[in-house]
Amino acid sequence: MSTPHGNDIDGTVPANGPLTGRTALVTGGGRGIGAEISRGLARAGARVALLGNGLEHLTRLAGELPHDPIVVRADLSRPEAPEAALREVTDRFGRLDILVNNAGFGTFGPSDEVTPEMYDDFMAVNLRAPLLLAGQAARHMADHGGGSIVHISSGIGASGNTGWVLYSAAKGGMEAAARTLTAEWGPHNVRFNTVRPAVIRTSAAWPPPGWDEAAYLRSVPLRRMQEATDVADAVLFLAGDSARNISGAFVDVDGGWGAVKPSVVGADA
Ligand SMILES: NC(=O)c1ccc[n+]([C@@H]2O[C@H](COP(=O)([O-])OP(=O)(O)OC[C@H]3O[C@@H](n4cnc5c(N)ncnc54)[C@H](OP(=O)(O)O)[C@@H]3O)[C@@H](O)[C@H]2O)c1
Repeated sequence: MSTPHGNDIDGTVPANGPLTGRTALVTGGGRGIGAEISRGLARAGARVALLGNGLEHLTRLAGELPHDPIVVRADLSRPEAPEAALREVTDRFGRLDILVNNAGFGTFGPSDEVTPEMYDDFMAVNLRAPLLLAGQAARHMADHGGGSIVHISSGIGASGNTGWVLYSAAKGGMEAAARTLTAEWGPHNVRFNTVRPAVIRTSAAWPPPGWDEAAYLRSVPLRRMQEATDVADAVLFLAGDSARNISGAFVDVDGGWGAVKPSVVGADA
């Protein structure tokens, strides 16, 4: 059997899904949105590398997934971690077809209180690591016939929101980079796409400061909260061959929230 890019694969991977024979790296793949992405990719047939900083939940999830997943422990705040993690994955898998740049966290506070240390600590994980991973994974994929890279941004990557200056700078930076990466690696059959979740109940940081669910839902045209599985479904589509002619796209998983502005004439039907 061969992969869609023409290379032989390990015959132990059963042929039962659209991503059968592919390998995938999901950063932050052991919990929250990343865990649902890992589950989705594995169910679709991919062999998944779960990267994170906390061994316990990574190992537990790996034990539940099909297709012989691996755990890669890496602290992406460290400058050398992206390259080392990528090398570990390609050494153990032989090749990498899909990268999901999902690891990240939010931070909230006034812009005039941002310090150089806060900036460096935050950007190391939320901008530097995904940028380094994207470039180095693209080189590897280009050398192996192609691949698909999906960034997890945020609704705040595309529009302003009081108190989120560092977060919006990091996500907006990845979105700008995705356009350049699309241009640079497209001719080598490496696709870059970005998914923007809106609001999903995941981390210990939930709820965000000032959260008002009823008010939020009134501003969402579909009037429903988003779930991690909604994000995973979008990633699955972009990672696979159904999206073979899609690169440089931005997919909002937000019930329509980012497409509209609040009504000023009281029309809340
Ligand atoms: N939840 C939302 O409402 C929302 C909305 C828009 C966008 N997003 C984005 O979606 C992505 C996932 O968020 P989430 O809500 O699922 O967050 P989460 O539940 O807090 O999970 C964060 C993930 O990032 C990983 N991570 C954090 N720091 C790391 C480090 N230094 N090294 C390696 N891994 C690290 C964690 O891995 P370990 O636990 O293993 O360390 C964890 O898997 C983030 O990029 C976030 O910005 C979330």
